Amino acid sequence: MPRARIIGTGSYLPSRVLTNADLEKQVETSDEWIVERTGIRERHIADPTEECSDLATAAGRRALEAAGISASEVDLVLVATATADMAFPATACLVQRALGCGPIPAFDLSAACSGFVYGLTVADQFIRAGGARTVLVIGAEVLSRIVDWTDRTTCVLFGDGAGAVVVQATDEDRGILSAHLHAEGEMADLLMVVAPSKRHPGSDEVIALEGEMIRMRGNETFKVAVRMLEEVVGEALAANHMEPGDLDLLIPHQANIRIIEATAKRLNMAMDSVVVNVDRVGNTSAASIPIALDEAVRSGRVRAGQHILLEAFGGGLTWGAVMMRW
Ligand code: ACO
Repeated sequence: MPRARIIGTGSYLPSRVLTNADLEKQVETSDEWIVERTGIRERHIADPTEECSDLATAAGRRALEAAGISASEVDLVLVATATADMAFPATACLVQRALGCGPIPAFDLSAACSGFVYGLTVADQFIRAGGARTVLVIGAEVLSRIVDWTDRTTCVLFGDGAGAVVVQATDEDRGILSAHLHAEGEMADLLMVVAPSKRHPGSDEVIALEGEMIRMRGNETFKVAVRMLEEVVGEALAANHMEPGDLDLLIPHQANIRIIEATAKRLNMAMDSVVVNVDRVGNTSAASIPIALDEAVRSGRVRAGQHILLEAFGGGLTWGAVMMRW
């Protein structure tokens, strides 16, 4: 059975940067509070003309270039997003068109901030089962469109962006070693966006605007996240007969520096083995891990033979981890 291996990465961040100082002018907050509680200093915000599919296409194109393959060689496109351009068609179909892929399957996947880890796992399964040889997996978000810019408890956290990887079948003994996914719908109400499907069919009634914005019980989410991440990281290590000391690099979902540091501490990992960019990009949900991975690859931090662990949690609740040998 082949393994699935990442052969190229790419990312895209909109050019507009929103700093904590900018947010101080919009809501009652301070740079000091945001940095101390979250580690975030700035985030990128999409231009009004940029859609999720535009960000996803830009990141996907860069990943294809890095992999040295053409769009015609891709045989599955997956886009993980909570902020698709439309309810349908899927953003993945718009990306497929923009990149000029063949008439291959393309679909979106909804797992909030765990979306990329879910998507990479689906790609791994397709490749192992022989259903695909080359998969383009993209995490892309325009969270700025669903953030309530009057709610200081959430608007300081999120940013826009996209990250992508090309995953290909290999007979080499490297690539994705194991993937671990979980969900707990009992905790669905910790973090949600109640969106257009709640509109009553056949009526003109439109839900109140606040129903379409991110609502989060941040403090509870924080505590649950730390516990779940510890469990799933332990599960990934055990599945590969590894100890925390065997890990070379941790690439966590970039939600909050305190959650990242808590996970690193439990793994006894020094922070210089942890990829962190939450200070510059904020929480970009499904885009967060592939953006961080792409930055780590391009800066030379990722090297052949390294054991790399990706981990994420998000709305659903969903959480998961992927262990790779690069
Ligand atoms: N500026 C100033 N004060 C603020 C702000 C702000 N931006 N936001 C909240 N506060 C205030 C609160 O009102 C509260 O004031 P009070 O004590 O007078 O009531 C106080 O700060 C403390 O609020 P907490 O919510 O307890 O603060 P906490 O330390 O928990 O930090 C945070 C909040 C940053 C949201 C944290 O809980 C967190 O990061 N949670 C996890 C978020 C997350 O990662 N979500 C999941 C992924 S997102 C996804 O899946 C799409």
